[in-house]
Amino acid sequence: MKILVLGSGGREHALIRKLAESPKVEKLFCIPGNAGINSDSVTANIPLTDHAAIIAFVKDNGIDLTVVGPEVPLTNGIVNDFNKEDLRIFGPVKEAAELEASKAFSKKLMEKYNIPTAQYRIFTEYEEAKKYLQQNKHPIVVKASGLAAGKGVIVCATLEDSLRAISEIMVAKSFKSAGDEVVIEEFMTGEEASVFAVSDGNYYKILAPAQDHKAVYDGDKGPNTGGMGSYAPAPLIDEKMMYRIERAIIEPTFEAMKNEGRTYKGVLFAGLMITQEGPKVIEYNCRFGDPETQAILPLLDADLSDILYGSAEGSFTFSEVLPSTGYHCLCLVLASGGYPNKYFTGYGITGIEVSDRDTHIIHAGTAIDNGQVTTAGGRVLNVVSTAGSLKEAKKKAYDRAGKIKFKDVYFRKDIGDKGIKYYEK
Ligand code: AMP
Ligand code: GLY
Repeated sequence: MKILVLGSGGREHALIRKLAESPKVEKLFCIPGNAGINSDSVTANIPLTDHAAIIAFVKDNGIDLTVVGPEVPLTNGIVNDFNKEDLRIFGPVKEAAELEASKAFSKKLMEKYNIPTAQYRIFTEYEEAKKYLQQNKHPIVVKASGLAAGKGVIVCATLEDSLRAISEIMVAKSFKSAGDEVVIEEFMTGEEASVFAVSDGNYYKILAPAQDHKAVYDGDKGPNTGGMGSYAPAPLIDEKMMYRIERAIIEPTFEAMKNEGRTYKGVLFAGLMITQEGPKVIEYNCRFGDPETQAILPLLDADLSDILYGSAEGSFTFSEVLPSTGYHCLCLVLASGGYPNKYFTGYGITGIEVSDRDTHIIHAGTAIDNGQVTTAGGRVLNVVSTAGSLKEAKKKAYDRAGKIKFKDVYFRKDIGDKGIKYYEK
């Protein structure tokens, strides 16, 4: 099988590394890729917005399956365009990707089908949103409904904060049309987890639950980032909790989408808050998580190409929670100092030559400059280690990370600690 992956981050590199393990995979391609992906597959520099050029590339290279990494091509309808050409692709059609593209849509769907989530209201008028905020208790959460590259969610401790948030989104239009509708919702307390279910339109397969670390500093302090590290499985989601999530959230979401005429194929990413009352949806995404995927795939005791191909083909024969392998995996993100705010790129990187079975060096924001691998983004590299315990996986990843050098390198010191605490209880 020839497989093309679309995207350029750590998630895409991890997908390529896992797919490379399959005896069924003959050749891997990636558009556009990064310095690491470039050594593991054939890359081409085509803009992800140019669906026609991507389709031509697929035809020219006899590609059997295209796997979409990021959300933007999905919400732009790349799956719809491939379907018109009868080409095989992994991911939801545009109408199903609405689950991520419109928080207003996903909140209304959850309400209609009784899927547990935070109480909410939707506003299009600033004055009405203001009045609502003045009457409601804080903290409260203000969200631009549309895609805002992970920046459209503002947790507001006080009325002053929430009024500033709606003024930025609804008056200053900082997220442009993504802020035409604003969701204001109840602040939920609990611990967060990420659950991924791959659907073929009829049945689904649930992968190992993971936990992300969104804040930039240790102890979940500081501004949110794309994710500073992850681990899987997340012990917070034990077998019993996974059963509740499957029955109350995953299954009803796929059923609801089918019922709405928006059958969901591809991976559904449920960002969850495990509250006192049980699991509730924070948000849905229509793609694999980054950096969760990096920690989940090394634990997968199945051929990833079978899962992605089966989803695209609609050939699953039953639903399941994939069994745990008993191993633990931790992904540590090495970032450019200053990220998620201003940072510099173009620095040479050393110490990344060796990946082995237990520790992968995954590239996120890297480029090649005169034959040298350099930093090219906020999140630069991922060190991903697998071991018999989470504590051991953490030690391996941090030991390996210590040997990687580039100017201004920054990483959190406490990735995995919340999980390790569970095992030590
Ligand atoms: P999202 O992009 O919707 O996942 O939100 C980003 C982050 O904001 C989440 O990971 C949570 O930490 C936080 N968040 C979003 N919605 C809520 C909520 N209703 N209650 C508490 N925290 C939230
Ligand atoms: N790790 C969160 C995300 O991929 O959106």
